[in-house]
Amino acid sequence: MTTALVIGSGIAGLYTALELRRRSDIQVTVLAKGALAQSNTWYAQGGIAAVLPGRDQVGQLPPGPDPDSIESHVTDTLAAGAGHSDGRAARILCSEASAQIGRLVDLGTLFDRAPDGGFAVGREAAHTAARILHIGGDATGAGIAAPLIRAAQADPGISVWEHAFAADLVRENGKVSGAVVVRDGHQRVVSADSVVLATGGAGGLFAHSTNPSVATGDGVAAAWRAGAAVADLEFFQFHPTALNVAGHPLISEAVRGEGAVLRDASGRRFMADYHPAGELAPRDVVSRSIALHLARTGGEEVFLDATKLGADFLIRRFPTLNAVTAQAGFDWARNPLPVVPAAHYWMGGVWTDTAGRTSVPGLYGVGEVARTGVHGANRLASNSLLEGLVFGARAAEAIVAERAPWPTVDADTLSLAPGPVRAARADMQRVMSDHVSILREDAGLRIASKQLAEWHSNGSSVAERETANLLLGSRLLAASALARTESRGAHYRADFPGTSARKGSPIILRRAL
Ligand code: FAD
Ligand code: SIN
Repeated sequence: MTTALVIGSGIAGLYTALELRRRSDIQVTVLAKGALAQSNTWYAQGGIAAVLPGRDQVGQLPPGPDPDSIESHVTDTLAAGAGHSDGRAARILCSEASAQIGRLVDLGTLFDRAPDGGFAVGREAAHTAARILHIGGDATGAGIAAPLIRAAQADPGISVWEHAFAADLVRENGKVSGAVVVRDGHQRVVSADSVVLATGGAGGLFAHSTNPSVATGDGVAAAWRAGAAVADLEFFQFHPTALNVAGHPLISEAVRGEGAVLRDASGRRFMADYHPAGELAPRDVVSRSIALHLARTGGEEVFLDATKLGADFLIRRFPTLNAVTAQAGFDWARNPLPVVPAAHYWMGGVWTDTAGRTSVPGLYGVGEVARTGVHGANRLASNSLLEGLVFGARAAEAIVAERAPWPTVDADTLSLAPGPVRAARADMQRVMSDHVSILREDAGLRIASKQLAEWHSNGSSVAERETANLLLGSRLLAASALARTESRGAHYRADFPGTSARKGSPIILRRAL
């Protein structure tokens, strides 16, 4: 019997599992290190970008090109990616979107509808058209995840293991053949013909993140230890508008898409000083502008002013955010919200081809853990849920077809010995936030690299293993950021503020074996 082990229960993992079952009788095991719903996917707000044939455009902002086109979605994706995207991957993402949205609908996903019965679509930053499908206004992630979870649980060919932590991959004879899994305090090896990493992102690298606590970069760390190539790790996206309270809950970009604006402490709209598209500039530009503006003017936060949208509209369009802001003590219909940028999405990850194949036979990567090159140096809003669907389906197809030959990639090798001092996760996050976040420069990156190299985390608890993974991820990120001596997308070097065609190639790394 052929088997697949899918590590992760977000959109990418669950959709890959379901697509494997739709196409074959492969027996699938899905692991989630917490409860099934504990994933970045569940918390996604704004929506999922897709150009659908024949849908009506609605929304309050002036419409973009009419009619919208896949070509325009590709162009926006590439523009946000700052000249660093894989054009073929971007074209695949945008052109295969509508087929996958159709599958989600078949699985019971209830996208919001416009009064005429067509899909309701919103606008988000750096999209030239309103093309963001959403669910429950601002609860898109849960609206997609819930039917996927139901479908996976209903399939007798899918075994779902919650609270099962994949500690490492097993590599034998040059091929990944399973994973070491810790569950109920016991460690065991789970073998499989194919292993799919769908472990999501790594917001835990930084002190402030929009991500839930499961996002600790376990997949990148495990793949690295197994000898797989990783790429573009210097590109980490900071979302411009996290509410500046404990936990930093995200305030969706869709709020700016509907017309909310950013103001500084003096009440002045400042984004036009930095980019002609103002609040709807690409996400990296808005986050960097906020950081620069705060550095120039002082202060710790800026303000998202949604007051002109009115209480009725805010409650109807953003019911979840309305509750989140009220719970934090704010009335956003009356007063601007204090916001700061927070770590949100890792463009870099485990190198894969457009069928999810990593550089090590038997190992696939899908969703946020993977670096297909589709997002380049900066992901376009609402392209990530879509990535999980499109590349999840393609990985399933490749696993079933067992395509040959396996891809190879040229990578520089790097050796990272653990340091002598036991690491505290909060100290590591502080170093990353101080020196390796939105604004970077050589001296700070060297301070961070030196400090990170002093630390280790070698305990056997899940928390200690996560800290070890974060430490490894942070060292790889800092090394990549130091090596990229230019600014591009989410990677900004104050000492190299320009973008250089000569220095643009991807930084691809592999462990020195
Ligand atoms: P995840 O959904 O993060 O799932 C990862 C899974 O891996 C989890 O089940 C976790 O338990 C499991 N896992 C991790 N490590 C291990 C391990 N060691 N062992 C076992 N299991 C493990 N994108 C959009 O396109 N549109 C949006 O509107 C949007 N809004 C967002 C809002 C927020 C607050 C956040 C945080 C992100 C948002 N994003 C959005 C980004 C998007 O949600 C994620 O990039 C995407 O959901 C990632 O999906 P994934 O399946 O790759 O990973
Ligand atoms: C948001 O709703 O602003 C998040 C969208 C995304 O990360 O794509």
